[in-house]
Amino acid sequence: MLKDPKICFCDDTLPGRLDIKKGDMICYLPYSMGRMKFLWGEDAEDFRPERWLDENGAFQAENPFKFTAFQAGPRICLGKDFAYLQMKILSAVLLHFFRFELKDESRNVRYKSSITLRIDGGLELLASHRQTPDIVYEEEEHLCFKN
Ligand code: HEM
Repeated sequence: MLKDPKICFCDDTLPGRLDIKKGDMICYLPYSMGRMKFLWGEDAEDFRPERWLDENGAFQAENPFKFTAFQAGPRICLGKDFAYLQMKILSAVLLHFFRFELKDESRNVRYKSSITLRIDGGLELLASHRQTPDIVYEEEEHLCFKN
């Protein structure tokens, strides 16, 4: 999400000591926060998924006030764990059976701004079957499991 406006229900003071009034609109910018070097380090803009892993290679969750995709506090997304589980199951199944490569390595991949961040023009991949020993490939599109 590029920005997320909230309306204040009552006068309050933010942790940075900024006074806000009832009815004020406050926006925070997950897009910008996700690229801030003081939050994520000098390589903030690099695609480095390993930053989410600890020294043993296990996923380590970030503070939800820093990684705000699901927001934080009492109104945090109720489906967060479910969403992570879905992503893990789908990734595990797809990566077990297929190998993915960019169709065009030379393409400059860009964002497309919308309510959520998308890939401009999509991302074309070539998928090929992994030759796992316990699977028989009867036809190109048909996977068959051995017992
Ligand atoms: C990648 C997937 C998802 C993302 C990024 C996401 C993100 C969010 C965000 C940012 C909010 C807070 C909205 C706000 O208050 O302004 C939210 C709320 C919520 N989400 Fe998700 N969500 C995801 C998947 C799901 C799934 C799969 C479910 C249900 C199975 C779900 C259920 C909810 C519910 C019920 C709320 C309202 C919580 C409340 O207001 O108390 N979400 N989600």
